[in-house]
Amino acid sequence: MLEDTSFAIHPGKDAQEGRNNFKDIGNLVTNEVQEDIYQFICENGTVNVVFYTEEIARVIMNPDMKPDMGLSKTAINRQPMQVEMEESESTFTLRTNKLTIEMNKQPFRLKVMDSDKRILLNEKEIGMGSGNAGEVICYKTMEADDHFYGFGEKSGFLDKRGEKYEMWNTDVFAPHNPETDPLYESIPYFMTLRNGRAHGVFFDNTYRTFFDMKTIDEVYSFMAEGGQLDYYIFAGPAPKDVLEQYTWITGRMPLPPKWALGYHQSRYSYETEQEVRELADTFREKDIPVDVIYLDIHYMNGYRVFTFDKDRFPEPKKLIEDLRESGIRIVPIVDPGVKKDPEYAIYQQGITDDLFCKYLEGNVYFGDVWPGVSAFPDFTDEKVRDWWGQNHKFYTDMGIEGIWNDMNEPAVFNETKTMDTEVMHKNDGSPETHRALHNVYGLLMGKATYEGLKEQLNGKRPFLLTRAGYAGVQRYAAVWTGDNRSFWEHLQMSLPMCMNLGLSGVAFTGPDVGGFAHDANAELLTRWTQVGAFTPYFRNHSAIGTLYQEPWRFGETHGELIKKYIELRYKWMPQLYSVFREASEKGLPVMRPLFMEFPEDEKTYRISDQFMIGNNVLVAPVMAPGVTDRAVYLPEGEWTDYLTGDQYEGGKAHLVHAELDHLPIFVRKGTAIMEGNVVPSMDTKQTDLTLHVYASRKNDRYQYTFYDDDGETFSYENGSYKQLDIEIQCGQEGVNIDVINQTGSYKAPYEQIKVEVHGLEDTQQVTVNGQKDHALKIK
Ligand code: NOJ
Repeated sequence: MLEDTSFAIHPGKDAQEGRNNFKDIGNLVTNEVQEDIYQFICENGTVNVVFYTEEIARVIMNPDMKPDMGLSKTAINRQPMQVEMEESESTFTLRTNKLTIEMNKQPFRLKVMDSDKRILLNEKEIGMGSGNAGEVICYKTMEADDHFYGFGEKSGFLDKRGEKYEMWNTDVFAPHNPETDPLYESIPYFMTLRNGRAHGVFFDNTYRTFFDMKTIDEVYSFMAEGGQLDYYIFAGPAPKDVLEQYTWITGRMPLPPKWALGYHQSRYSYETEQEVRELADTFREKDIPVDVIYLDIHYMNGYRVFTFDKDRFPEPKKLIEDLRESGIRIVPIVDPGVKKDPEYAIYQQGITDDLFCKYLEGNVYFGDVWPGVSAFPDFTDEKVRDWWGQNHKFYTDMGIEGIWNDMNEPAVFNETKTMDTEVMHKNDGSPETHRALHNVYGLLMGKATYEGLKEQLNGKRPFLLTRAGYAGVQRYAAVWTGDNRSFWEHLQMSLPMCMNLGLSGVAFTGPDVGGFAHDANAELLTRWTQVGAFTPYFRNHSAIGTLYQEPWRFGETHGELIKKYIELRYKWMPQLYSVFREASEKGLPVMRPLFMEFPEDEKTYRISDQFMIGNNVLVAPVMAPGVTDRAVYLPEGEWTDYLTGDQYEGGKAHLVHAELDHLPIFVRKGTAIMEGNVVPSMDTKQTDLTLHVYASRKNDRYQYTFYDDDGETFSYENGSYKQLDIEIQCGQEGVNIDVINQTGSYKAPYEQIKVEVHGLEDTQQVTVNGQKDHALKIK
C-alpha cells in the first residue's frame, strides 16, 4: 500500500489530497429565524443553530446550501426548543440558562459559554470553513489546561491532548501501537476537561473524519471529507453530566442479561462439536465458572453465515441444549460477507430480492473475505435489516441468545481493506455512497441483528458483541477491542482504550483477555485475567496458530490463581450488575477514569494505568512481567485494600506490594459494595448476598444503590426489579446503615442480605435500620 511506503511523507501529498485549500466561512450576510431554528447565512456557508435542552445545542454548517436538519444515522432525541436571541451591532447571542452561543458577525465566529460565562468553545483567527473537495472543518481555541478524552476506540494514553485521530472503521491485524489509527470503531465525540469542569462535542458526520489536537499551537480542529459540519455541544459541567447529555442524544446501553457479564471463553476456533464439549466438561470438572463459549468461523459450512458444517458440528441443536443444561451458552460469530454461491439460499435471496450493496450502475459489489468472493448486505436499507434480523431465527430456534458480529467495518481482503467507496447504499430512500456511510455499516448491522434477536427471543434479553461501530453503538452491542496481541504493552494499552470507549458512551467493553495474536504465557494470562475480572466485558480469546490459553493451560499454580479471579468476578456480580444498571439508565461508564469521580483533582487527569468501577472502587493492576510493587495514586479519602484489608490514606501515591496472587483493589472508606456467592454460571441464581461496608471515622454519608432483577428478561421494564437505596453514615460513634427506599416488585431469591462492616474501631457501634441485627430484610 502507498501509505506504507515513503509516499506517506511525499512533500506534495497534502495538496494532492486537496487538503490545502481552506476557505473561511467569511462574514455574516443575513439571518433568519424559523421557529426554533436560528439560521445565519454567511459568504461561504450557512449555519443553523438549534437547542434541544438547556445544556445541548447543535451547530450545522453547510458550505453549499441550507443545512439539512434531518441527517443523522444515530441521534435519537431531537425536539428543538425556542431560546432567547439578542442582537448587538457586532453579535447575535442565543441563550439558555446553561449555555450561551455568541456569534460574531464580521467575520462569522462562534463562542460558546456556560452559565458562569466560562468559554467552552471559541473561534478566533480561524473558525468554520470548507475545502475544494467538499471537506468541512472548524478550528477552536485550545486552552492551556484543556485535556481531551473519548474519541471511541483509540490506542495510546488516556489524555488525547497532543494527538491527531482519524475515524474510518478499519480492520487492523497488524500490532496496535500508539500510532495505529484508525481502528475498528468510529466515535467522533470527545470531552474536554478544564480545571475540574467538562464539556463535550459530538461531530455527527459519517464520512472519514479527523480530529487534530496536535498540529497547531493552541488550536484544535475537526474535519470531515464530505457532508456537513454538524456537531452537538454538551454543556457539562461535570464529566458525568457530559456523558448523560451525549447519551441522551445517541442512546444508552440496554441492560444486558446477567450471563453476558460472566466469564466468556473463546478461541479462533474451537473447531468441532467434540472440542467444544470437552472444553465445557473441563470447565465443569475443574469447577471454573463460565457462562459462554464462542464459535468462531470454523463452525460454518465453508464460512457461509447461517449454516453449520455437517462434519464438524453434526448436531448443533443438541450441543447447544446440552451445554445449556450445564449453564453454558453458545455465541456464534456472524460476519456480513455472504458467499457468492448460486446454491446457497442466503445468497440466492440476497440477489433475488436485491439486498446486497451495489454500484450505481446496478452491479453487485463483490469482495473477498473468509468464504472467498462475497456480497455484502446493504444494512442502510430497512428491508435488508429486517431480512438479516429474521435470518437469525436459524440460531434462535436452536436456543442461541447471543451473536458475535465481526469483520463489519466491513473488512475486505484488498488494498483498501474495505468496500469500494463508490458503492451506492440505498440509505432508506436517500442513496449515498459508501464513502459517506462507511462508518455506520457496522452500527446498522448491529441494529439489524439486535432488533432481530429481540423479536425472536420473546422477552429475553439478547446479547450482541461487535467489532465495528459508530456513535450510538451502545444501543445494540458490547464492543471488544479487536485483534490485540499477547504483549504486556497491550494489557497496559487496554485500560485507557476501554476507559475512553466508556467515556464515549460505550460502557460494555473489554479486550481479548490474554491477547489474541502471539502466544500468551503463565504470568501474562494471570495478570490479564485479574484485570479482566473487572473490565465490563470479560472474554479470553486467542488466534489460530497461537498457544491455547484457557485458564488451566499454563500449569496448576497459575491455573488456580486464574480460577480464583474468575470466581472473584462472580462474587462481584451483584456489585457490577448495579453499576451496569446505572450505566444503562444514565449512560455512565462501568469502568471509569479516576477524574470522573474526582474532577477537581488534577493528578487524576492523566492516569492511564488505574481505573474505577462505579464511584467507590479503584483498581490498580500490575501490568509488567516480574513486577510485584507498583505506585498507586489514591485520590482524597481513605481507602482499604479489598484483599488484604490494609488501610491507605488518599490524596497521595503509595508503593503497593502485589505478588502474583494479588490484584490491588481499593474500596473507599465510608462506602459499600455488594457481593454474592460464587456460582458455576449466571444460570444459577445467587442467593447468598453480603453488603460489605467499609467503616470510616470521618462524618461520611454515602448513598449506595443496589439493583437486582431476574437478569434475563425485560420484565424489569414493568417494575419487576428490586432496588435498595441504602444510606451509610459513618462517624466517631459508629456506622448506621439504613434502607431508605426499597422499590420494585421482583421476588428476589433471597430474603435477607447479610451486612459485614470492615475496619471498625472498638468505640464504633453498628446499627442496621436502627437495629443491632446485621441483616437487611428484603420485602
Ligand atoms: C477477526 C476477529 O477480530 C477475531 O476475533 C476473530 O477470531 C477472527 N476475525 C476470525 O473470525
